[in-house]
Amino acid sequence: MNHNELLKKVNPVYFSAKGCLGLLAETKELDIMRFYNDIDRETITPGAIDINNPLTKIWVVSMEVRYSTWNTIAQKTDCPNIVDLPCGYLPHCLKAAKLNKKYYGLDLPIVIEEISPIAFKNLADNEKHLVQYHAVDATNYFSIRNALKDVQGKICIITDGLLGYFNRYDLRAVCQNIHRLLREFGGCWYTSDYQFSDLTAVTYALLTGGKKSDMLEANKSGSGKIADADNSDFIFNTGTLEERKNFIEECGFNVKTFRYSDMINFIPSLKENPELMQKILSAYQDFEGWILTADETDDKQENEIPFAQNFSVKNNVLSISISGRLDSITAPELLQKYEEQRAKNIFDEIHVDAANLKYISYAGLRALKIMQESCNFKISNMNDEVKKIFEENQEKI
Ligand SMILES: C[S@@+](CC[C@H](N)C(=O)[O-])C[C@H]1O[C@@H](n2cnc3c(N)ncnc32)[C@H](O)[C@@H]1O
Repeated sequence: MNHNELLKKVNPVYFSAKGCLGLLAETKELDIMRFYNDIDRETITPGAIDINNPLTKIWVVSMEVRYSTWNTIAQKTDCPNIVDLPCGYLPHCLKAAKLNKKYYGLDLPIVIEEISPIAFKNLADNEKHLVQYHAVDATNYFSIRNALKDVQGKICIITDGLLGYFNRYDLRAVCQNIHRLLREFGGCWYTSDYQFSDLTAVTYALLTGGKKSDMLEANKSGSGKIADADNSDFIFNTGTLEERKNFIEECGFNVKTFRYSDMINFIPSLKENPELMQKILSAYQDFEGWILTADETDDKQENEIPFAQNFSVKNNVLSISISGRLDSITAPELLQKYEEQRAKNIFDEIHVDAANLKYISYAGLRALKIMQESCNFKISNMNDEVKKIFEENQEKI
């Protein structure tokens, strides 16, 4: 497996972001087209984006609303630093640089490796110093903190299309990480993920005359297919608005809202039909995104153990001990080392000692599964939390 295949293997979810850019390409906006023409479009299923299909039109309009809302937030915020988490493949860095704001594009390694050179190719020389891209896993605090190491002043984190990928366990980790960053740097967290599926449903109803509830159902089952794993516990997909709000408040955020209709007043792909555009924009008055700030809390940070892995082979058994977190950042390292061992040793059994494994995400589970499928496999000494995740999700990934 080469490096790129390895990254794809642990994080198959990245391609959803290419779909977002593909939909926005239908608007022919110049910055979008620059990025769209440069990305590898192989993973966008040919024919999947067909503008003559009314469903595609709904998604194009909804994506445009989200994209323009992002750009308006970047303009309105008084924070000098914009953190685009997850940045996907969108050309937001070009907008932030034009506003003379610092832009941090954060996403999984597979996305960053492709988008970063494309972004720098399209930035003017005098804008390049404003932009940085970093590979992170949103559940991994240190990966994000490290990406923001030279930040000066407040941060405005903008999150579009992320929270729906996490079960409660991972979602709590992401929220705690963002909370911690806001306590340190100050600033706020905007997200469209609270009510975005409702917004697509009302767009559907107005464009096709269909029922909102049909679209909401389709969204739930569609996101289940894209999501990393079984999505029944993914409250930003399947939960109610109240559950989402309670969850975020329990994580220690103050919740304020913005209305989509206050963020945008024009939808380019509907310019031929101003009446319909107006109708849709007025309907958006009922839909809200969040502006979150961090409550003051006691700063009791757990001491994190850094990731480490140890391999040894004896009597045809490969023994591996893992410390720290096994997630999107560290799982490829584990797989790479594992492949190296396979190339130079003979073994038919793998024993993993998880005594110091503090956290495992789906990417980590996927790496272990690859080992499990190749040999007799035993894992021991898991802590309660890791054991629960391991046992409950074995069949789902
Ligand atoms: C639906 S896309 C949205 C991207 C972009 N914000 C947009 O609107 O097009 C979801 C993105 O979340 C990223 N993602 C999924 N899990 C992640 C994680 N644990 N940490 C960071 N990014 C993640 C994926 O790689 C993908 O780029």
